[in-house]
Formats: sequence, C-alpha cells, structure tokens
Amino acid sequence: MSYPVRRFDAVIVGGGGAGLRAALQLSKAGLNTVVLSKVFPTRSHTVAAQGGISASLGNVQEDRWDWHMYDTVKGSDWLGDQDAIEFMCRRAPEAVIELEHMGMPFDRVESGKIYQRPFGGHTAEHGKRAVERACAVADRTGHAMLHTLYQQNVHANTQFFVEWSALDLIRDAEGAVVGVVAMEMETGEVYILHAKAVLFATGGAGRIYASSTNAFMNTGDGLGMTARAGIPLEDMEFWQFHPTGVAGAGVLITEGVRGEGGILLNCNGERFMERYAPTVKDLASRDVVSRAMAMEILEGRGCGKNKDHVLLKLDHLGADKIIEKLPGIREIAINFAGVDPIKDPIPVVPTNHYMMGGIPTNYHGEVIAPQGEDYERIVPGFYAAGECACASVHGANRLGTNSLLDLVVFGKSAGDSMIEYIQSHQEHRPLPENAGEFTRARLERLENQTGGENVDQVRNDLQRMVQSHAGVYRTDALLKEGVEKVFEIAERVKRTEIKDKSKVWNTARLEALELDNLIEVAKATLVSAEARKESRGAHASDDHPERDDANWMKHTMYHADTNSLTYKPVHTKPLTVDYIEPAKRVY
Ligand code: FUM
Repeated sequence: MSYPVRRFDAVIVGGGGAGLRAALQLSKAGLNTVVLSKVFPTRSHTVAAQGGISASLGNVQEDRWDWHMYDTVKGSDWLGDQDAIEFMCRRAPEAVIELEHMGMPFDRVESGKIYQRPFGGHTAEHGKRAVERACAVADRTGHAMLHTLYQQNVHANTQFFVEWSALDLIRDAEGAVVGVVAMEMETGEVYILHAKAVLFATGGAGRIYASSTNAFMNTGDGLGMTARAGIPLEDMEFWQFHPTGVAGAGVLITEGVRGEGGILLNCNGERFMERYAPTVKDLASRDVVSRAMAMEILEGRGCGKNKDHVLLKLDHLGADKIIEKLPGIREIAINFAGVDPIKDPIPVVPTNHYMMGGIPTNYHGEVIAPQGEDYERIVPGFYAAGECACASVHGANRLGTNSLLDLVVFGKSAGDSMIEYIQSHQEHRPLPENAGEFTRARLERLENQTGGENVDQVRNDLQRMVQSHAGVYRTDALLKEGVEKVFEIAERVKRTEIKDKSKVWNTARLEALELDNLIEVAKATLVSAEARKESRGAHASDDHPERDDANWMKHTMYHADTNSLTYKPVHTKPLTVDYIEPAKRVY
C-alpha cells in the first residue's frame, strides 16, 4: 500500500449543507464518521445561499406540497425525475421544521411562524399567482443553516478533517467504492481513508466559468474524481445563470430582492419582465429572466455607458425593509457595486450560478452507473448529495431555494442509505493492492514536469473559453468549436507545471490538482451541450429554439474514458401521484 491508511465506517467529502446533514445522521447512529473539508465547514459555499429554503408551509398564503411539486417539474422543463421531485417536495415541510427545532434562527411572521417570501417560479394552483414558499433567515439563510448543522454535528461527535482535500476515489475489482485518497493541505501528507461507505457532497463546479457566483473552491472535485473512476456524469449541459449577479463582480444578489418587491429595469426605465412573463413578471423562473435580460442587452436596451447590464431597483421598498430583510444585499451592493440600494438601483447581469447535472444518483442518494439498458445499476458503497449530485430534481433548470432543500432532504436520505448499507456490511471490503498508485502517479508527474504550462494561465484560458462557448445563448457552431477547444486545453492540462518548486505552498499543488477536476467538468459540459439539439430549461440554442420531447426528453450521460455519451430515460412515474404531463412553459 503506497500511503498510510486510516479507517472509518463512513467518509464524507464536503462540509456544506448536504455533507453535514448526512454526517449528522451517521454520527447519531453511532457510526465512526469523518467529514473532509477544504475549508472550515461553516465557510463552505452553502454559506453563500441567501434568500431561503423552499417548503409549502403555507405560513403566509395557502400552499401545498403538490403545487410545489408541479412548479419544480415545470421549472425543470420536464427533465426532472418525478419520483425524486415528489420525494423532495413532500418532505420539505418536515425538513424545515426539523431545522427550526435544531435551532435555526428563522425570521418570523406576526403569528410567530417561520417567515416566507415569494421566489421565482414558485406559484399557487399551478401557476395562477406567486406564493410565499421561501423560508428565510433575512438574506443569510445558508449561513444560518451551516452554523446550525455544524453545531449539531459537534454535539453528535462527528470528526472533522479541516483543510483536507480528497484527490481520488478508490474502487475495488468489483467496482465497489472502498475509500478515498486524500491530502492534508497544511503538511502535504497523503493518506488512504478506508471506508465502508463514501459520500460525495463536494458542491458545485461554477469555476469552469470566468464569471460565477461560486466560491473559488468550487472546482468540481467530486465530479472529477467520479469521472476518473469510470462513472459517467449526468446532464452536464445544464448550467443555471442567476439573473442578478453584480455587474463586473459576479457576486450574488438574492432573488429574494425581487421576492420582496424589487424590479428589473432597462435603459428606458421599462419594467421589461412584464413583456416576457405577464403573470409573475420578475418572479419567472431563472432561465426565463436571464434570457430576457440577455435579450434586452443584445437589442441595445442595456444600461451604463457600455449598455451591458440592467438595473435592479429596490429603493421603493423603503429603508426599514431593506435594512431588516436584506441587510447582506445592501452591504454587497455598497462594497461591490458602489451603490446604496436604499437610494440607487444595483447594476446586474446574468451570472453563472448552479450546475443542474452531476454525479447520477437515485433519490436514496445511491450513485448509479447505468450499463446498457440497466439504467439503475448501483455502485456499491458510493453515495452523493447536494449540488455535485444529480437526483435529478432540478432537471434542466432549478427553482431558487430548492437547492438548500435538496441539501437537507437528500443529505438525510443518503445518510439513511449509508447506515443501512454499513449495517449489512459490517466488515470493510479489502483495499485493492494498487490503492493510491494512480494518485501517486498524478503527484509525481506534477513534481517532475519541467518546461510545462503555467497552471493559472491554463485555468484562465479554460474559464474564458467555457464562458464564451457555453453561455446563456448557445449555437451549434459555438458549441462545436467549444468541443474542439476543450480537448486542446485538456492536452495542455496534462503538461501543467508548478513553477519554482522550492518556494511552493501546498495550495499551489492543490490548484494544479483542482485543474484536473475542472477539465473533466468542462469536457462533460461541452460534449453534452453540443449533442443536445433542442432548447430546454437553461440550455437555450439559437439553432434549435423549441423543446423537442419526442427526441430529447432524456438524460445525457457523459463517459470520460471514451469521451462519449449514452442516454437514460426520465423517470415519469412519481411515487404516489399522477404523472405531470409535459406542457408549454409560460409564466
Ligand atoms: O437568489 C438566491 O438567494 C439564491 C438562492 C438559490 O440559488 O437557491
């Protein structure tokens, strides 16, 4: 065995909402559980989720879980798996109440119940009117959730390896997952973490784009490791552009601003969403609002001297409401846009925000690796939850606030599945003889490479290429060229070098290793997007402007070993209710 071995019942990679929720389940069941995190857990990217977590509590207006389900299916543009969507929406109220009982400090309505605000695409009675479904802690909901879950885990004796990075997955000869190879960042020491079950909760990969609301650490590590281990990635063409990133900075301005009554204006002062989504206007789903904004800018109605953004106006909400409900937004606007929204509008542009695709799982959090017609083939011992996973509840477009919900519902369900698996597999499966050798070869290549390419330069080129070839609007020609370019950059990634090794920090080593993950995500994105000849949700093609259910109501599965795609049918059977039939998506 090439590296020292440490042994656990469960290894969880990622200390955000999904990882912490799963860990809590496992630790409370008395299992020896470790959470690996690149940053201190309460600094995970969940901290950046602002506006709320969805649940049909009906604290402000009548609401129902099946309306939430309908909105989520419609939001997904009928690519979401309806069994998983029913599972998530039915469990939403109990998941939120559970967080409340753990001590999450939700805002309150007059009656003392949890405060709820409207969000894009969330409606009552199948699209008739916007409904307050986002349960909020001011505009810091993810921050509050992380602290709540972290404290619960400390109480439950979960172990944390902070500033550790997983480098590769270990599978045995039968394909079962038996652990990970991981690096302690401070020392650069590499270990094998031998486990009965492994969960990936590694979050997003928005850093394949040049401009993203994602943290710099969101480099798709779980997806890279999964792809290198021979497991396909699902629906990677679907990337959400959040309508309101601060122009020029990319920092998120929550949709909760529009939920509280903020509106988008073009250079003529026109509330243009009235034309694109007459019923819910600024509260249409994100793909619809982002496309409308891009169209206003393309047609010359953008604002500023370069006419390259639109304005988010909220001064009419009044200082008191802004200070009480949107304090973080005010701070961001002052620091990143130089405007105080109590007086002036915020310049905003659609900004890359969320990955709908990911590691294929079922709604139990079990990772599946379809083979031939066996679409539900489970990888023993391997689980995924949160943004890195594709359950698929978000399909082609996620509704705002369904991400925090996804974290806790599927974090818990993955935790339960792992407990069941570990209890029926009391012994660790043996590690393969060559465990860690693949990682050693990656590290040795980096150490020995001379005359190679600069990591930062290659990463910047990759990010700029993805930004311009897989943006809000796509064409066949752009995507075809994007596929050629991503494989050229992939060759350069193989030759990257850490310059001046005598002075190097392990963070530089880690950035080089992260690039191996970014490139896997980028290849999957371009190849999958180039293949899909229709427009659905966040994948909008100028050359194929209509949704094509006859040919394309199916999931793409990208196989990194062969750079090829296979397809998997959408689950059209919900658990207990009738199938929600495809319809035209209007808001
Ligand atoms: O707009 C927001 O507050 C973001 C929430 C989300 O992505 O779910």
